[in-house]
Amino acid sequence: MRNLIDITDLSVSEIDELIATACDIIAHPEKYQDACRRKKLATLFFEPSTRTRLSFEAAMLELGGSVLGFSEASSSSASKGESVSDTVRVVGCYADIIAMRHPKEGAPMVAAMHSPVPIINAGDGGHNHPTQTLTDLLTIHREKGRFDYLTVGLCGDLKFGRTVHSLIHALSRYTGIHFVLISPEELRLPTYLIHDVLDKKQLSYEETQDLEAVMPKLDILYMTRVQRERFFNEADYIRLKDSYILTLDKLKHAKQDLCILHPLPRVNEIATSVDADPRACYFKQAQNGKYIRMALILKLLEVESHAY
Ligand code: CP
Repeated sequence: MRNLIDITDLSVSEIDELIATACDIIAHPEKYQDACRRKKLATLFFEPSTRTRLSFEAAMLELGGSVLGFSEASSSSASKGESVSDTVRVVGCYADIIAMRHPKEGAPMVAAMHSPVPIINAGDGGHNHPTQTLTDLLTIHREKGRFDYLTVGLCGDLKFGRTVHSLIHALSRYTGIHFVLISPEELRLPTYLIHDVLDKKQLSYEETQDLEAVMPKLDILYMTRVQRERFFNEADYIRLKDSYILTLDKLKHAKQDLCILHPLPRVNEIATSVDADPRACYFKQAQNGKYIRMALILKLLEVESHAY
């Protein structure tokens, strides 16, 4: 039985397979409409979500399966003190696969140790968000046609932004990636990622606070929200929240084929006037999340291709 806790649980060739399946789903959705008939997905969300939970649920419904679950800890027996391990042991009696979001780093890994069915990490604290990374990779594949030789700007809250952490792990396995880490001093990428991933793998990267200075060299600009829910001090959040606001003016010196990504939700780090720019790919990115999650569900449930 396979789980997806960390993006590196999948090999590069398995990610290629998932992307190929997602592209086939986009081209031929009717082939997949009964692939998960009689299968059930449980979405256990101990933290708020719009895209991840609803795209997982839409994914399972479009595969002909059913969904059950909860969208906040307060409506589950976690509010009475039930442990994550007991919760998944029980939900595993009702569902064939579980997608879980939890505020505590490592909670989905604990769940995977006790669950009778596959666990998908749908975001754990400020740690990882592997299915967002699969979404990002599918979007990069569709927009740029490659993963190699890209200059990737990661901008905003690199400290608490779990989507950035997972994306760095994923892209670190390709050739010729140059990371441009754009953040205020207080929100720099954690040192464990700098030392254990970037330095250890001898990857090319630079750190800066100046988005406009690096804009002309970027192939991808990955904007992120300052993660208010991870701050201990509201005053620090207010001081840092508007560190970067992408506007059309700031894009004047960007490449014509720049791909602007954002995992969403957006607060105000991208002006809405940017949405109409052909380089803005973040709503396409959100749509891609459903297709890649369909491909992931098929893989983890080991649904054979003759079933669709
Ligand atoms: N990108 C993302 O994880 O969005 P949600 O928090 O709405 O699921």
